[in-house]
Amino acid sequence: MQHNCRWHYLETAEQVAQEASRHILEAANEAIKERGKFKLVLAGGSTPEKVYRLLAETDADWGKWYIYHGDERCLPKDHSDRNSLMARKSFLDQVTIPEEQVFDIPAELGPEKAAEFYHQIVANALPFDMVLLGMGEDGHTASLFPGHQHDKTKLTHAVYNSPKPPSERVSISAKALSDTRQLVFLITGKNKQEAVKEWRMGQDLPVANITPESPVDIYIDNDAFSP
Ligand code: 6PG
Repeated sequence: MQHNCRWHYLETAEQVAQEASRHILEAANEAIKERGKFKLVLAGGSTPEKVYRLLAETDADWGKWYIYHGDERCLPKDHSDRNSLMARKSFLDQVTIPEEQVFDIPAELGPEKAAEFYHQIVANALPFDMVLLGMGEDGHTASLFPGHQHDKTKLTHAVYNSPKPPSERVSISAKALSDTRQLVFLITGKNKQEAVKEWRMGQDLPVANITPESPVDIYIDNDAFSP
């Protein structure tokens, strides 16, 4: 369970996206000023996509950004449900981040091989400057699902039997996602209300197991929050 959550309540999903993109750009400036680069982990899903479209419209020091993915779906590279394709279309194709600084998960190789490959990428990247995550209606985050058992010492996992299609996926582990200077959750939509409630009550959900030392920023819209 996180020890310090900062909940940012916003009216609409659009406002969530605006506030989150502002936060990301600020974190990028700070990281680049202090350490010369910005290592950002992207999330899949519909809420993050809105954020990426806003980022794509702004001007930033793109040459110093390094992009990773929290999870990927085991589908062909050009499949429309790939998180990497969504990120490229909505964001990365629009800006000038050097291609060698964008680290896709090669999920087309299958869960085991891709998880093994990405392990080294993550090991070289840690700590991340910022990790973005969404949350599913069952409290999953990245491709870490309730009830799934993983070796907690690993940096990446091969995922089978995902309840959200496709069933085969690759995910960065809770341990590696927690090794970040900033963690930002993007949560919108009525179907998230129950999981949000459980999370706030301290239930053991995947979303509650990403535990960085720094505070956790949660941007949430009215629909997803029920007091
Ligand atoms: C995925 C995701 C997943 C997602 C949540 C929230 O690839 O499916 O990484 O963890 O972020 O399910 O998705 P929405 O924002 O679409 O509700």
